[in-house]
Amino acid sequence: MRIIFLGPPGAGKGTQAKLIVKDYHIRQLSTGDLLREHRKLGTELGSKAQTYMDAGNLVPDSVILGMVGEEFNKPDLAPGYILDGFPRTCPQAEGLDQLLQNTNQKLDHVLVLEVPDSELIRRLTARRSCPECGHIYNLIFNPPKTAGICDHDGIELIHRSDDTEATVLNRLKVYQELTKPLVNHYEPQGLVRHIDGTGGVAEIYQRILNAVK
Ligand code: AP5
Repeated sequence: MRIIFLGPPGAGKGTQAKLIVKDYHIRQLSTGDLLREHRKLGTELGSKAQTYMDAGNLVPDSVILGMVGEEFNKPDLAPGYILDGFPRTCPQAEGLDQLLQNTNQKLDHVLVLEVPDSELIRRLTARRSCPECGHIYNLIFNPPKTAGICDHDGIELIHRSDDTEATVLNRLKVYQELTKPLVNHYEPQGLVRHIDGTGGVAEIYQRILNAVK
């Protein structure tokens, strides 16, 4: 199965993608996670991306397309994948069309998670994540058992530098202007499934399962 996850920052793309990965044994390809990994490793790409990410702006299309193009050559994408946070602009969607054509692949679903802005701000400013295993927590909805520590590996949780209220507001604006219009790119192909992203994590996951069946 090949899925694109569209949805504003904080809609739960990462949270839900991890559940799909577990059930369907396919890879989550998150461009945000790949960029953060580059930053952690101190690569040239990582330092190029840092200023854009910290301001809540998009990293240039050429950088993203180069990075995703490399991932498409890896064998772990063969059983299927969830694209989380990619594509995010029209040029990226066109680049992906080309990659799919070159590799003779077709998408199965474009899932659009919908959540009101007020809820997104609440979720993101309270998000904490484990830099080691990637588990995502929320101080309000899903806190760790011990404050500030990952339940799974005992590592200190981090607060993403782009999860401040001012940066979140810019990320929401960027989503509305550059990413939401991608629904129109995929609608004519009959791939778009709108998912209500409010309520509990399990409830939303059930809506996703119903949509992809
Ligand atoms: P990226 O890492 O992709 O971030 P994003 O799209 O802004 O999405 P998030 O990771 O913030 O949210 P999410 O939907 O995954 O929510 P989550 O599950 O964590 O991108 C970061 C930056 O990288 C961009 O701003 C840009 O600079 C750059 N970038 C990345 N890709 C790019 C691209 N293709 N082109 C250009 N630039 C790119 O959940 C959020 C919180 O809510 C968590 O605390 C979670 O526990 C909680 N939560 C989840 N579900 C629920 C629920 N049902 N109820 C209550 N709380 C919930």
